[in-house]
Amino acid sequence: MASNVASIGGRAYPITDHTFDVVIVGAGGAGLRATVGCSQAGLRTACITKVFPTRSHTVAAQGGVAASLGNMGADNWKWHMYDTVKGSDWLGDQDAIEYLCRNAPAAVYELEHWGVPFSRTDDGRIYQRPFGGMTTDFGRGPPAQRTCAAADRTGHAMLHTLYGQAVKNSTEFFIEYFAIDLIMNSEGRCVGVVCIKMDDGTIHRFRSALTILATGGYGRAYFSATSAHTCTGDGGGMVLRAGLPLQDMEFVQFHPTGIYGAGCLITEGARGEGGYLTNSNGERFMERYAPSVKDLAPRDMVSRAMTMEIREGRGVGKNKDHIFLHLEHLEPKMLHERLPGISESAKIFAGVDVTKDPIPVLPTVHYNMGGIQTNYHGEVVTKAADGSDAVVPGLMALGEAACVSVHGANRLGSNSLIDLVVFGRAAGLRAAELVKPGEKQAELPADSANLALSRLDRYRYAKGGASTAQLRLNMQKVMQNHCAVYRTGPTLAEGSRLIHEVWASRDDVAVTDRSLIWNSDLIETLEFDNLIVQAVVTMDGAANRTESRGAHAREDFSGRDDAKWMKHTLASVDDQKRTVAIDYRPVHSYTMTTEVAYIEPKARVY
Ligand code: FUM
Repeated sequence: MASNVASIGGRAYPITDHTFDVVIVGAGGAGLRATVGCSQAGLRTACITKVFPTRSHTVAAQGGVAASLGNMGADNWKWHMYDTVKGSDWLGDQDAIEYLCRNAPAAVYELEHWGVPFSRTDDGRIYQRPFGGMTTDFGRGPPAQRTCAAADRTGHAMLHTLYGQAVKNSTEFFIEYFAIDLIMNSEGRCVGVVCIKMDDGTIHRFRSALTILATGGYGRAYFSATSAHTCTGDGGGMVLRAGLPLQDMEFVQFHPTGIYGAGCLITEGARGEGGYLTNSNGERFMERYAPSVKDLAPRDMVSRAMTMEIREGRGVGKNKDHIFLHLEHLEPKMLHERLPGISESAKIFAGVDVTKDPIPVLPTVHYNMGGIQTNYHGEVVTKAADGSDAVVPGLMALGEAACVSVHGANRLGSNSLIDLVVFGRAAGLRAAELVKPGEKQAELPADSANLALSRLDRYRYAKGGASTAQLRLNMQKVMQNHCAVYRTGPTLAEGSRLIHEVWASRDDVAVTDRSLIWNSDLIETLEFDNLIVQAVVTMDGAANRTESRGAHAREDFSGRDDAKWMKHTLASVDDQKRTVAIDYRPVHSYTMTTEVAYIEPKARVY
């Protein structure tokens, strides 16, 4: 540890310097799994996190983690791969999807051996429930029971186990440190990250051979989201400011069953266990939209069906603006054993006893399919001059912050938790190949923290006319109203105009607390700064994509257009000029091995 002082705007910012082989930003499922792998490989590993590790958003994941264990009936990773490709509406990269599905069972058994308290079958095996879009026999068979569950608190169980493993492997944690910006050198290599320790306001510069961003999604760009308030896309913001693009940001997942009014998640596992949706006529309307799998259709389809029922006047409640989810026909003992968490949430947030009454629900923002472009080793890639994927040296991204892309245009439920551990493990393996423990790293230029600190200092002394809370609310309302389940050209054009206005109004932000000690006003401003750029590329990406695919449903372009749009969007920003540039890269039309063939696109019906 060494010290230095940066002078920014005439103010002195003392810097504490640290050197590690690997620095991982984020301590959710992906960050912790990568942390364990790097530590086990003998790499000196730091895990930086803005919240205590077991408070990371993975803790809120409920229904389960997908892997073709076949404990409850026949299953096969190739069927899982087929479902994931189809679920992605053919925007997922099939080499990466193959990697995910073939490695999923081993990743789950590893969690079991590390101590995750999975629910059990009568004969002691890991309990698996059905989830939307998971089928058997390449879509020809009945729903697959593929989602491994620890009641409805699977993320909680995984996160606590992974944290225990990280502690056991002597990872050094930097808890309640907020990462401000990446340090990129003149050759485009990432050489570390600059952070503020929130409780005492000290500045810390981490130099590392490898920096891994596992910072989660940016759900809080929207007004109503199942995401924690900490889901502010800090990694995506840093990457955009480093001049790199984000991929497929127009694809935002709405979970069908957020509690009406509160937005809290009611797991898809509720429908997996036999729950169903009805409209104001008491009709099980999913039978009309997805005749074969009904309530277990993928999320994009269920969210659209619910929206359509409400629009056509068949919503429930005084304002006919939501839908009912029924569990009251199920055995109370089963609800107690398999769905205790959502039974409690329904009571607290909707005042509903699930054994007696239906839960009022509404599609709610839940997941970002888009993010930092990576390959299936977790390495960040960008488009080279010849159009190929070029690795950005020294930088990786994982989990919801990343876009590998395995989820394409629509993620299947329970494919998120498996993404965290499969690619978290992959990153650890790759790190062990790329970095030699203790290898000498080039000195950082003395001014390498100045970019991050100038931004910090600018916001710390911002004297504009609008509070961060007001700007954030403006952004959230625009996203909620103009970039929702259904989209149209005119709404998106208006949304783009409005969200660019919010971006411009950032210059008028007012921060009232000038101290550096637990300055939540300042930290929330840095978070808003991360959110707004991602909101802008989401809206502009959605306006630009003139087709419907997965979660991106354009009413003015209702079909999928493979001839024109079978490609990934790459969106970058010029944060000074406040402009967005959109480029593309091809979808990988090949698999990882010859053991499976490329799955040809076809109509996505269930
Ligand atoms: O519904 C759920 O339990 C959420 C799972 C997921 O997003 O993968």
